[in-house]
Amino acid sequence: MFVKIACHMAMQIRPMLETDLPAVLALWGRTEGVGLNESDTPPRLAAYLCRNPGASFVACDGVQGALLGAVLCGNDGRRGYLHHLAVAAEARCQGIGRSLVQACLEQLAKLDIAKCNIFVYATNTPGRAFWEKLGWFGRDDLLTMQILIGGV
Ligand SMILES: CC(C)(COP(=O)(O)OP(=O)(O)OC[C@H]1O[C@@H](n2cnc3c(N)ncnc32)[C@H](O)[C@@H]1OP(=O)(O)O)[C@@H](O)C(=O)NCCC(=O)NCCS
Repeated sequence: MFVKIACHMAMQIRPMLETDLPAVLALWGRTEGVGLNESDTPPRLAAYLCRNPGASFVACDGVQGALLGAVLCGNDGRRGYLHHLAVAAEARCQGIGRSLVQACLEQLAKLDIAKCNIFVYATNTPGRAFWEKLGWFGRDDLLTMQILIGGV
């Protein structure tokens, strides 16, 4: 999928490959609002991509191929989940974030998944504003809870 964006730079949105992971992890590591954890090792991310084939996407400079953005997407058969949406600081406000999200939602729709959830740090005010601009809404009636499972 090729998308034309502002300043006439060709941008390619394509499924994330295992070989993208080093560059993707570097982007996430320098992006505010993205929290990496024990699940974000190359082997575990490769397993996530295998489990959710063709659902996660990268945005690349269509000429040089440099990574401009990335997002993880998966589903549990009932709900979709997006994680770690990030666009390189120098490439923001050109529609890349929107295009990455749209690509994921189209894949979820093909799998007949009706709803998608995201986790946003409560302190990530700009991130929340972005999601709201795209039509996402907070569920103030819900609280995220978690437990650590042995051997993490
Ligand atoms: C959030 C982020 C992914 C947005 O990427 P982007 O490529 O700049 O976003 P887009 O250009 O596709 O913007 C889509 C729309 O959202 C708006 N938007 C983008 N960032 C916004 C913000 N911080 N506040 C309000 N609106 C915003 C744009 O103006 C645009 O609106 P338009 O279509 O009416 O012009 C990027 O800023 C980023 O990587 N932030 C740091 C990581 C992060 O917080 N990720 C979310 C984790 S939950």
